Amino acid sequence: LPSAGGLLEQDLEAAPARVRIGSRTANVQAFNGSLPGPTLRVRPGDTLRVRMRNGLAAPTNLHVHGLHVSPEGNGDNPFVSIAPGESFDYEHRIPEDHPPGTYWYHPHHHGHVADQIAAGLYGVIVVEDPDPVPVTRERVLVVSDLSLDPDGNLSDVTPMEQMMGREGRIVLVNGQVRPQLSAAPGERELWRVVNACPARFLHLSLDGQGLRLLSRDVGRLREPVDVTEVELAPGNRVELLVETRQGTSTLVTSPVDRGSMAGMMGGGMGRMMGDDRPGGDEPVELLTLGVAGDRAPEPEAVAAAAPLRDLREEPVAQRRTLDFAMGGMGAGMMDGGMLDGGMMDDGDGPGMMSFTINGQEFDPGRLDETVRAGTVEEWILTNSSPMDHPFHLHVWPMQVVEDGNRDLAEPVWLDVVNIPARGRVVVRVAFDDFPGRTVYHCHILDHEDLGMMGTVEAR
Ligand code: C2O
Ligand code: CU
Ligand code: CU
Repeated sequence: LPSAGGLLEQDLEAAPARVRIGSRTANVQAFNGSLPGPTLRVRPGDTLRVRMRNGLAAPTNLHVHGLHVSPEGNGDNPFVSIAPGESFDYEHRIPEDHPPGTYWYHPHHHGHVADQIAAGLYGVIVVEDPDPVPVTRERVLVVSDLSLDPDGNLSDVTPMEQMMGREGRIVLVNGQVRPQLSAAPGERELWRVVNACPARFLHLSLDGQGLRLLSRDVGRLREPVDVTEVELAPGNRVELLVETRQGTSTLVTSPVDRGSMAGMMGGGMGRMMGDDRPGGDEPVELLTLGVAGDRAPEPEAVAAAAPLRDLREEPVAQRRTLDFAMGGMGAGMMDGGMLDGGMMDDGDGPGMMSFTINGQEFDPGRLDETVRAGTVEEWILTNSSPMDHPFHLHVWPMQVVEDGNRDLAEPVWLDVVNIPARGRVVVRVAFDDFPGRTVYHCHILDHEDLGMMGTVEAR
């Protein structure tokens, strides 16, 4: 572990890999040959240098999801393109006051993001807490999903799956099907859980164990909160304290209703086309935890963290509205365009089905929003479509200030905020520290690849 002000250097190669999944051999893509890639651990004040090599047949790049680092040059630049066979040297200066937490890395080359993450390209970045919570054990748990054909190759994705957001039929934790963990009773474990699925929402519960929520996405809650279940949109992370009790428990994800096309097409038509419930209706078992043996010594009490910044107490320089829409589904679709698989074009301009923010599909050459560096803005995020869209902003975390589905008594900070179907959420953002241009987008990665992304520059 580097000391604060230290340097962590890491080589990452994105390349095809053969791995064991359950009882079969699968041809996936991975960083350094493993699912997930290596966990990178840094402290606030450190510099992280990554030499990224592209061993794939398609262009790629590397994004450090959730880190508050510069979006320019060789930093977290979403516009970098690394050609097959090429390398790129990234350097990220992590500020001294960077919030601790569980972050992650993944490719971010527009048009390839869903394919590359679904293929297995993801890994975790831990920003260590200078004042860590005393625990007996720490686990990093990356949840992902994929679909394999009978030969163990990644299944082709249908246009309907892209439109809904693909959900893999196999759900993995750290590249394994239902791993078995063990612990002694009386332990306090820290679980860093990452939702690396391209589109699947997770609704987690762990029967028979004491669960406390320590962190969501960014930083740490003032006090851990007792929970029985917790929901993660794609891209979200949680840190959970598991206070172990004797017995065997299963971590389960229950189905989440994230809307469907049915509302747009008329329920009957939507259901006929098989889109009514992405992810299926059944809970999925993610892992088992067996707790047995002698009782572990009592861990020390958890001290309260410093209160989180509350932008509700700060002046707002600018308000803007971003509307998320899915359009272009006219009668033409029913005339066969959709059913023969031709409902979306992958070229320029809206196809029959378009995914837009404020009416526009992503154009890397267009600047959509210009913000004053150092000011606080309020963004009103509205969803006029019948499906949820988890909104993600790079570089600057968001404080949720209005959301009918959340208790906002304590400040809630996230880097992915779900905007429910036909709903709205209001966030505030402090555009501090880094001038430069980056992106925001829906973290249902098929939607992002289909155009639900915009550009923002702080000047
Ligand atoms: Cu995790 Cu722009 O993405
Ligand atoms: Cu990101
Ligand atoms: Cu979306």
